[in-house]
Amino acid sequence: MSSLQQVNPRVRGIRASPHRFLQRLSADIQRHITQGVQKPFQEVIDISSGDPQYAGMKPISFVRQVLAVCLLPDLLHDENLPLDARLRAQRLLQCCDGESVGSYTASAGLCLVQQTIAEFITRRDAGVPSYSSNIYIPSGSQRALMVVIKLLARGDGEMRTGVLMPLPCPHTLPMLLDEAGVKLVPYHLREDRGWAVDLDELKAALKMAGGRCEPRAIYISNPGNPTGHVQDRNSIEKVIQFAEDERLFLLVDEVYQDSVFEQDREFISYKRVLFEMGPEYSETVELASFHSLSNSIMGECGLRAGYVELVNVDPAVMLFAETLLCIDISTPVTGQLALELMVNPPKLGDLSYNTYMQEVLFNQATLTENAQRLWESLNGLPGMSCQPAMGGIYVYPRLNMPPGMVDQAEMLGMEPDVLYCQRLLEEEGVLVGAGCENGQEDRNYHLRLCVLVPSPTLQEAVKRLTSFHLRLLARFPQ
Ligand SMILES: Cc1ncc(COP(=O)(O)O)c(C=O)c1O
Repeated sequence: MSSLQQVNPRVRGIRASPHRFLQRLSADIQRHITQGVQKPFQEVIDISSGDPQYAGMKPISFVRQVLAVCLLPDLLHDENLPLDARLRAQRLLQCCDGESVGSYTASAGLCLVQQTIAEFITRRDAGVPSYSSNIYIPSGSQRALMVVIKLLARGDGEMRTGVLMPLPCPHTLPMLLDEAGVKLVPYHLREDRGWAVDLDELKAALKMAGGRCEPRAIYISNPGNPTGHVQDRNSIEKVIQFAEDERLFLLVDEVYQDSVFEQDREFISYKRVLFEMGPEYSETVELASFHSLSNSIMGECGLRAGYVELVNVDPAVMLFAETLLCIDISTPVTGQLALELMVNPPKLGDLSYNTYMQEVLFNQATLTENAQRLWESLNGLPGMSCQPAMGGIYVYPRLNMPPGMVDQAEMLGMEPDVLYCQRLLEEEGVLVGAGCENGQEDRNYHLRLCVLVPSPTLQEAVKRLTSFHLRLLARFPQ
């Protein structure tokens, strides 16, 4: 046992996740290829990761140009860079202490960035007002979520805070809730209705929690990770009504709000619906809405910045929230500035507008094309069925696992979907996510496939996956 395990009993309970296991296997296979070991493929294709730039997406030029000048102000006079990018950098630097990205900022974030985010939210929500004093800029939306959940965490035994959590859920969520010290209260999304949030399922989850914990919050991912479901206004209203009836804090992860690709479906924020439902709700229901630079259009995960807007939170709690959210002292300044560019991009008539729009539209078109291709291909395979993804970055097909494969996995002491992913990786060099990480139930198998890779890469991955799947079915007839 390592010294770390001796001193920290929590560490002992943590098992290597299937994701880590598959990632490590993938890295080993890639290294063997580099060392000259012969494989039926030249390289591993990773369609499990939700990191856009790792997946091959190009950064938005305007963001990088402005940041380049902010980091090296000598470039303010470099005419190779567009004038509007240089002027924006100059303005951003003026709001940094010492006119430098090397200084600390106020703990909640740069005032200018908080203000620009509030204006963006007001525009997005058709005039529903947003105030910069309700906005915090931590180093990533996951960090913000962790802090807000920690604020809600209290009590022991049956009084311990419970958080309603969707199944399937983002694969990092259970660990985050566990680390924050709250009890997980799962509610099922309805696969037969395209992974919709269902009121009866919410009520059933609450009933199941009775006597085990005190549910105080509900987490929603919209557009959904990993389901790709995008809620309509009616569905959002029902959840808000439920939160009001049951006095639950709404934790709404809206990081994929820019990637909605189903026609006739649009992203509507919980904040907007809450306010349009009238004062009975808009003045009472507590809400935290999260957005991030790591989203699928900017894809700047590594710059580490996100924001949370808190609504209807008691001023005393806000003060406490500020202290906890600001424990990092200052979120990386380059990330904060990139966030400003995300919510206030070049406008029509600006020098950089056309390039910016071309890049954004290209990224959106890639997601749409990939999601459509995956949906069609997976539904064309025997033993596989896939709900259409309306948005987000994943598709989440159901896998009718051959019983022989389930038996083999049991013999090996593995989850059958992890075994499927392992074999796919070893035989065809394609890395996909196993549904067991997203909280699926027994014998209800799914895969998580990300649509961020360039379209030709996805096409190759689909070809290899198809070939593997058909071989597997021949090996293990249903
Ligand atoms: C559901 C969900 N929320 C948030 C994030 C982003 O988190 P962060 O802003 O901490 O990078 C991701 C992934 O990138 C995600 O899948």
